[in-house]
Amino acid sequence: MMNHSSVSRTGPLIHAQGIGREFAGPGGSLRVLHGLDFELKPGEIVSVVGASGSGKSTLLHILGCLDRPTSGRLLLGGQDTSLLSDRQLAGLRGKRIGFVFQFHHLLPEFTALENAAIPMMVAGQPLDQSLKEAARLLEMVELSPRAGHKPAELSGGEQQRAAIARALANSPGILLADEPTGNLDNKLGQAVIDLLWRLSRETGLSMVIVTHNREVAARAGRMLELREGRLWPA
Ligand SMILES: Nc1ncnc2c1ncn2[C@@H]1O[C@H](COP(=O)(O)OP(=O)(O)O)[C@@H](O)[C@H]1O
Ligand SMILES: [Mg+2]
Repeated sequence: MMNHSSVSRTGPLIHAQGIGREFAGPGGSLRVLHGLDFELKPGEIVSVVGASGSGKSTLLHILGCLDRPTSGRLLLGGQDTSLLSDRQLAGLRGKRIGFVFQFHHLLPEFTALENAAIPMMVAGQPLDQSLKEAARLLEMVELSPRAGHKPAELSGGEQQRAAIARALANSPGILLADEPTGNLDNKLGQAVIDLLWRLSRETGLSMVIVTHNREVAARAGRMLELREGRLWPA
C-alpha cells in the first residue's frame, strides 16, 4: 500500500509539470499537450476553455489520472504519480478525484442511491455505511425524493445531479468536470453550475471545469485557455 502520510497538505493538490501527451496515429504522432504547466490550489475553482479538439478532455484525463502523460510529471498531493503502479494510481484516484462528464454515465440498472454508493463499496466500505453516505450526498444535490429511481426515470438535470453525488463519494477533495452542462438546456445547466459552486463553497471542494460557456468560465476564480498544447490566462 501507498504511504498516504507522504501526501502534502499545504502545497498544490495537483501540480502538472511540463506535461506532454502524444497519440500515435496513421499519419504519424499527434501532439496534443506540449510542455503544459498547471497548479490547482486547495479550494480553487479553475475553468478551462478552448476550441474543440484542443485537448481539454485529454488534459482532464491526465489531471485525473485516467491517462498518463507521455512526458513531464504529474504530482497529486505532492506525490509523483509516475512512480505509482496502475493499481496504486487507480487507488489514489478513487480517493482523491471525482469526475463529472457531459453524459452522466450512471449505471442504468441501479437506482440513484445505489449509483452514488457503488464507488464507496468498490473502495471497501461496508454496504450499510455506503448507502447511508450516498443518501447524505443525494440530499446535498437535492435529489433525495428521487433516490429510488433508476437513471432512465430521471430528467437530464436530475441525472447530472446524481452523477455529481456519485463523483463526491469517498470525499475526493478534487472534482474534474468535463463540459458538465453540455447536454442540458440553459436553465438546467445553470442549476448544475450553481450546485457545483455551492458544493465548492460548502465543502472546500477544488474544481477544474471545462466548459464552452464563457459566462460559466468567467465565474471561476481563474480562467484558462488551452491552446497550442498549453494553458494560457484567458
Ligand atoms: N485516445 C486517443 N487516440 C488518438 N487521438 C486522440 C485520443 N484522444 C484524443 N485524441 C485526439 O486529441 C485531440 C484532442 O482531443 P480532446 O482532448 O478530446 O479535445 P477537446 O476535449 O478539447 O475537444 C483530438 O485531435 C483528438 O482526436
Ligand atoms: Mg472534450
